[in-house]
Amino acid sequence: MSFSALRNPLRNTARRATQLPKAQFRANFNRKFSTPPPPPAAEAKSSSTGLYLGLGAAAAAGLGYYFYYTTSGKEAGTAVRSAAQAAKVKANFVPAKEDYIKVYNRIAQILDDAGEYDDGSYGPVLVRLAWHASGTYDKESKTGGSNYATMRFDPEAGHGANAGLKVARDLMEKVKEEFPWISYGDLWTLGGVAALQEMAGPKIPWRPGRIDGFAAQATPDGRLPDATQSADHLRNIFYRMGFNDQEIVALSGAHALGRCHRDRSGFEGPWTFSPTTVTNDYYRLLFDEKWVWKRWDGPKQLEDKKTKSLMMLPTDYVLVQDKSFKKYAKAYAESQDVWFKDFSKAVSTLFELGVPEEQFVTKEPWILPTVEEQAEKKD
Ligand code: HEM
Repeated sequence: MSFSALRNPLRNTARRATQLPKAQFRANFNRKFSTPPPPPAAEAKSSSTGLYLGLGAAAAAGLGYYFYYTTSGKEAGTAVRSAAQAAKVKANFVPAKEDYIKVYNRIAQILDDAGEYDDGSYGPVLVRLAWHASGTYDKESKTGGSNYATMRFDPEAGHGANAGLKVARDLMEKVKEEFPWISYGDLWTLGGVAALQEMAGPKIPWRPGRIDGFAAQATPDGRLPDATQSADHLRNIFYRMGFNDQEIVALSGAHALGRCHRDRSGFEGPWTFSPTTVTNDYYRLLFDEKWVWKRWDGPKQLEDKKTKSLMMLPTDYVLVQDKSFKKYAKAYAESQDVWFKDFSKAVSTLFELGVPEEQFVTKEPWILPTVEEQAEKKD
């Protein structure tokens, strides 16, 4: 059966899982709002002026460095855009919280422009972009992370782990054209936040302050996890970012969303029956279903014995094999609330990796309203 044929049952399962009334669920699934943002937050305007002037100067100074060290036309295009960003800043455009909410709302609209793409939403691939932009962080050398959005450049754009993310970067490029003042790092992480929140997930505290960097700041290949590996590998990769076992398990629950693509990672299929809704089904399915190795010509992956329509990667399955991981996975299978709380905290930390504290425009991250909440407030 094709996956699009599964879509209506999926919607019902997703609705049941989130226990939303039907009308509200439909609104969540087929969202086409263009709600104006709430009134400006004065605090954001005043607190960010100096910082943005500083960031503009940093971007402009970096340009000289960039032209000295790099040559490709693609990078030159990005540098020109970064310079345009700096120029705007020089012209004293100081984005406030309301401006970021406008970007959030635009991304929320784009999520549902997906048509027949995958399961009808660009949300999952935007979450993956935000995670891969952030998950390159190394706490020892303090390199990588979301600060410089170096995945715009080769060779990082072409790293095996990033296969397929051009779809997400191209979508975000359209938003960047409308809001040229936002940095790529802020845009991509805000994309992840908007996608998670709009797909019925928990609130993800977020704040702006990332700056556009240069190809020389790109990270070497091999910093993101390899799905064919074991628990040791997961620990090596995530401990390097500064996470612990509980956070590894909490973050992995993002695989409630989206699917694997044969032409991207080589793996195939979704993890859950509701791949465009954030639920704790990933953990529940890990425990409740019988998982067997799929017999096929692709890389080693598991499939559920009952329907053969779901999959788990070897690195997903270790969460119920490794003793330390398993206890957290069990807790998240038993309570979506517990998982939402831990997931929200871990994702917020993930998206800030590699960004020096002094770069952020506010000390306290913002909790941005969903499009639905904005509409309710207006009524
Ligand atoms: C624990 C280690 C992880 C491994 C080995 C891993 C591996 C993968 C692989 C192989 C895919 C399929 C890519 C494709 O074929 O399109 C994928 C997709 C995805 N991953 Fe992960 N991942 C990990 C952690 C995470 C984390 C921490 C997040 C977010 C917080 C995340 C979010 C996603 C999402 C949303 C997708 C679906 C993308 C789509 O539908 O296009 N993953 N992951």
